[in-house]
Amino acid sequence: MLKFFSSKKSNEDFEHIHIDMDNIPKHIAIIMDGNGRWAKERKLPRTMGHKAGVETIRDIVKECSNLGVKYLTLYAFSTENWRRPNEEVNALMNLLVQYLRKEFKELNDNNVVINHIGDISKLPVLCQQELLEAYNNTKDNSGLVLNLALNYGGRDELIRAFKTICKDIKDGKISEENINEKMVSDYLYTVNMPDPDLIIRPSGEQRISNFLLWQCAYSEFWYSNIKWPDFKVEHLHKAIHDYQSRDRRFGNVK
Ligand code: FPP
Repeated sequence: MLKFFSSKKSNEDFEHIHIDMDNIPKHIAIIMDGNGRWAKERKLPRTMGHKAGVETIRDIVKECSNLGVKYLTLYAFSTENWRRPNEEVNALMNLLVQYLRKEFKELNDNNVVINHIGDISKLPVLCQQELLEAYNNTKDNSGLVLNLALNYGGRDELIRAFKTICKDIKDGKISEENINEKMVSDYLYTVNMPDPDLIIRPSGEQRISNFLLWQCAYSEFWYSNIKWPDFKVEHLHKAIHDYQSRDRRFGNVK
């Protein structure tokens, strides 16, 4: 079934985007980039860019849920982001707590599972408590699974997986001969989730930045110059529309 969405290009000009509702990506992952530059352009502190970025998160989560996307993974804080000034790190942690408290009811009413990936044991205790509470109170929901990637790094995730695999071999739980792609996937934070079909990166950068390194093997990438705080539902529609026109061959031929 095709669904048409109009988006305003200028005062008189509308663009119509159609989306095939039978081919919605199951898993969308987003590298939310450009908050700092958005703030700089407005002569605002970087933290104001992150605050504006939270508004975008709200709209995009809601629309993904409406469209029937099953998993949405948002890169909110990487293992490298600790290098940022303390003030910025603290502001991000506060925004996370505020987001969880403010949005919990609406997300839960919309059947969203509030999940996280990454090593959250390094986050401030309050963030850990809010994340675990949000997860425990929504884990039985059947709608969109919202993965907040926090203190997440693809290489860190793989190192953890390798270590646990080695330990499980030593303990006789698994044997080396049985290691295959499925088994490695089962040792990642994204266990039991499909790999991302579509990875979106706004703000003009075209790199993966240590995000879902194992899982992105066959993901379709979509880039745009729009900075995350300016990223609107219509950009999500365009990304999905473009995704639907791609020929995904997974190494095969048609
Ligand atoms: C990248 O922009 C953005 C981040 C590192 C943080 C994203 C976090 C949020 C939008 C808010 C907090 C999260 C939740 C889940 C409430 P950047 O700062 O690297 O931008 P720049 O490249 O323009 O400097």
